[in-house]
Amino acid sequence: MDKILVLDFGGQYSQLIARRVRAEHVFAEIRAYDKITVEQIREEAYKGIIFTGGPNSVSAPNAPRCDRAVLDLGIPVLGICYGHQLLTYLAGGMVAPAASGSEYGGTEVTVEPCALFADVPETSVFWMSHTDEVKTLPESFVSVAHSAICRNAAICCEKRRLYGVQFHPEVTHSQHGQKVLQNFLFAICGCRAAWVMDDVAEQMIQRCREQLAGKRVLLALSGGVDSAVAAVLLHKAVGDRLTCVFVDHGLLRKGEAETVERVFRGQFGIRLICVDAAERFLTQLAGVTDPETKRKIIGETFIRVFEEEADKLGQIDVLAQGTIYPDVVESGNGASAVIKSHHNVGGLPKDVRFKEICEPLRMLFKDEVRQVGTAMGLPRQIVWRQPFPGPGLAVRITDDVTKEKLAILREADAIFREELDRAQISADQYFAVLTQTRSVGVMGDFRTYGYTVALRAVTTDDFMTAQWTRLPYEVLECASSRITNEVGGVTRVVYDITSKPPATVEWL
Ligand code: XMP
Repeated sequence: MDKILVLDFGGQYSQLIARRVRAEHVFAEIRAYDKITVEQIREEAYKGIIFTGGPNSVSAPNAPRCDRAVLDLGIPVLGICYGHQLLTYLAGGMVAPAASGSEYGGTEVTVEPCALFADVPETSVFWMSHTDEVKTLPESFVSVAHSAICRNAAICCEKRRLYGVQFHPEVTHSQHGQKVLQNFLFAICGCRAAWVMDDVAEQMIQRCREQLAGKRVLLALSGGVDSAVAAVLLHKAVGDRLTCVFVDHGLLRKGEAETVERVFRGQFGIRLICVDAAERFLTQLAGVTDPETKRKIIGETFIRVFEEEADKLGQIDVLAQGTIYPDVVESGNGASAVIKSHHNVGGLPKDVRFKEICEPLRMLFKDEVRQVGTAMGLPRQIVWRQPFPGPGLAVRITDDVTKEKLAILREADAIFREELDRAQISADQYFAVLTQTRSVGVMGDFRTYGYTVALRAVTTDDFMTAQWTRLPYEVLECASSRITNEVGGVTRVVYDITSKPPATVEWL
C-alpha cells in the first residue's frame, strides 16, 4: 500500500493534512520531525513527504528542522507554510520576516503552470497565515505563484520533485486546495488510491488473527465508539478467546448499560462481563465536589475494579485497547497545556500485568473508525454515539454526586436528548447538567424549591472549539416544560449560550 509521510513541525493542521490525504484513499502517517531518521524514511519507502506548518521562524536558533538529506532521497516533498520556508532554508534559499507584515486569511493567489497546479485556475483564493516569507529562492528553484504581497507564494524544482506552498491547501477555505493535494499525490508521487475502509477492516481482522493466534485477549468496553469497534473487530479475529469487561460505574446515561449488553452479548455473541460497581463508585465519590478530584477518584476506582475482574479470569495474554490515531499522535508530539485531565475510563493502568498490548485502531481517525464499525455491522446508535466523558454524569453534576441527583439528571438528560432527536436537530453533542443552584418555583398552589437544570448543545468539528447551537425556541420550550413536569425536584431550566472558548463543552 502506498503511503505518505506527514512530517510534523508543530503545525495546528498536521492531522488535517493526514485526513485530507486519506480522503483521497492514500494512507498518510504523521511523525514528529525529530522522531524519525532519514534512514527510517528511506526504509519505509514513502511515496511522498509533506512538511507541515508550524509556529516558528526557520532561522531561529531552536527552530524545528529535519536533516537536509531528506531532500536527497529522491522522494517528492511538498512543504506547506512553515514547511515551504523550511524547504527553502534546507535547499539553500533565504527566509525572513515579510516586509509587508503578516498575510492572513483568504487571499487571491495567481499560479503558473507546473505539475502541482495542473487544473487549478490561474487565480483563486487560498488560505494564508504567515509572517515570514521566502526572500531568495534556492538554486534551480522557480517561483510558481504569487499574491499581491507575497512574491514567492509557491516554489518548485520540478526535476527533483520538490514543491513548497506558502498557503494551506488542506483547509477548506482554500478553493482548490484539495486539487493541489491530489496533484501532489497522484501526478507527482504516483500514488494509487488503495486505502479503502472495507478492505482495511478485513486486513485488520486478518492481522489480529495472525498476531493473536492462540492467545487470550481482554478488552475494557466503555460503550463508546472506539472500544466498541475494537471489540467487534477482535471478536471476528479471535472469537471466544476475547473477553470484554464493561464496568458500570453508575454514572452512565439512561439506558446505556442495557444497550451495551444487548448489542455485544445479544447481537454479536461476545463474551461480556458486566460489573455493577455503582455503589462502590458512589461511596468513593461521597461528598466530593472538586471536578479534578472526582475525575481522579473515578479513574483510580475504575482501574481497581478492572484489575480485580482480570484477576478472576486467570491468565490473560493480551490487553486490547481502543486507542485511535489522534491519541497516538498527541501523546507522541509533546505536551500542550492541560485544561482538564481528560479521563477515559477505558484507559488502563500503566503498570499492566499483561504480556502484550494490542491496539487494532491505532492508525485510524475517528471517522475511519466509524466507517470500519459500519462495515462490520455495528448499529448506528453505537457508531454515531456522541462523545460521552469517561467520568460520566459525575462531571455533569456541579456539586457532590448522590443517587438522588443522578436520577434527576438521567431523566432530564434523556428528555432533552429525546426532544432534540425528535426535532432532528444536528448538534454534535447535547446533554443536561444538574447545577447546585436551587430556586423557587410554583406548582399548583404550592411553593416549590428545587434544582436548576442547564441544557447544553454544541456544534463543532473537533471539540477543540465549539459554538453553542442555536436551537429553535419551540424545541427548548418543549424540553423545558417536559423536564419541569416530568422530573421531580426540578423547578427551573436554563440554556447555556457559551461557546468554547471561553467555556469548555462540559461544565466540569
Ligand atoms: P471539554 O469539556 O474539555 O470537552 O471542552 C471536549 C470533549 O471531550 C469530552 N470530555 C471527556 N471525554 N473523558 C473523556 O473521555 C473526560 O474526562 C472528558 N472530559 C470531557 C467532552 O464530552 C467533549 O466531547
